[in-house]
Amino acid sequence: MYLARHGWRVAAVDLVDRAVRQARKKADAAGVDVTVLCGDATRLDEVGVPGPYDLFFDLSCYCGIPPHRRDAYAAGLTTRAAPGAQLLMFGYGPEAFDDPISCVTADELRARFAGWQLTDVTPGTNPVPTFWFTLHRAAVAA
Ligand SMILES: C[S@@+](CC[C@H](N)C(=O)[O-])C[C@H]1O[C@@H](n2cnc3c(N)ncnc32)[C@H](O)[C@@H]1O
Repeated sequence: MYLARHGWRVAAVDLVDRAVRQARKKADAAGVDVTVLCGDATRLDEVGVPGPYDLFFDLSCYCGIPPHRRDAYAAGLTTRAAPGAQLLMFGYGPEAFDDPISCVTADELRARFAGWQLTDVTPGTNPVPTFWFTLHRAAVAA
């Protein structure tokens, strides 16, 4: 809603139907034009979001994706990225939880997001370790 209010054309995706319905209600009540779609961010071909997009915003969705689906997530975004696109991702560090998979590291993003550059890592302000990662696609095709 914030982005749409600031002039962006926004498509939002979540796996959980209830979350999608709530988001649609919220956007309608606020009179904000956002397309909210129910689907799997690791299977964007099935969701109907062809792109290209200038900005991807991920608020800890990636951390909820099992490791074996994370390359598919990266590929889906990469295919839909406009030249110079940015990915802004919030995620939990490895020390945040007892389980070893609900986290993300800079090294993992560098390895999985081929063709992107990790340009910034800013620690979050949460009580557990969190980070804001910024990645960029090349402005022109290599
Ligand atoms: C921390 S919540 C963020 C919720 C909301 N997007 C926001 O920005 O406030 C993470 C969301 O990621 C969603 N999610 C987890 N795995 C997903 C997947 N494979 N595809 C789409 N959404 C997923 C969860 O359902 C959850 O709503």
